[in-house]
Amino acid sequence: MWKLIIFLLGFAVASGVIFVSLFGVENPNQELTDQQPSSQVTVQISDQEQSAKQDKEDSKSFMNRKLSTSKGIVEGLSRENYDLLEKCAQDLMLLSQEANWKVLNTKPYLKMSADFRSSAERLRNAAAEKNLDGATLAYFEVTLNCVRCHKYIRTIK
Ligand code: HEC
Repeated sequence: MWKLIIFLLGFAVASGVIFVSLFGVENPNQELTDQQPSSQVTVQISDQEQSAKQDKEDSKSFMNRKLSTSKGIVEGLSRENYDLLEKCAQDLMLLSQEANWKVLNTKPYLKMSADFRSSAERLRNAAAEKNLDGATLAYFEVTLNCVRCHKYIRTIK
């Protein structure tokens, strides 16, 4: 009697093992745990790509804002529009404080950012005093700082 029960148990276990090894269902969770991390990784990577792309576009339109503000300054100088000059100088100062501005964290970059900001501030003050020569000079300085920083960026790229 015991022999029969042991035999049946053994048979059940053995057939279970055979079934499982044939159909490979022994560990459905195994497959899931195998797959989940990899799909998470893909999601993470595409998220990163997405945000890198987003950052790039943000920084591009950000740089273009600098450009259109500079055009406004030329217009302000040509027309002696001090309100426009003051507004543009203010915009440049604000731009230079935004997170998008901090592309690099090197000493020269931070120094150039500070120089840029103070030349924009001089421009704003000259405009507030309706000092056209002072504003023109400050505008040259601002432009010089644009060019200096871009030159620096190209040397380290
Ligand atoms: C302290 C550094 C710094 C100063 C000052 C600076 N920029 Fe830039 N600018 C950058 C960096 C960094 C990039 C490149 C960003 C990149 O590659 O993503 C750039 C790129 C640009 C671009 C190119 C965007 C494109 O389409 O590729 C323009 C236009 C621009 N800046 C305008 C200006 C103007 C105008 C000024 C002055 C009013 C100025 N920048 C001052 C750091 C600066």
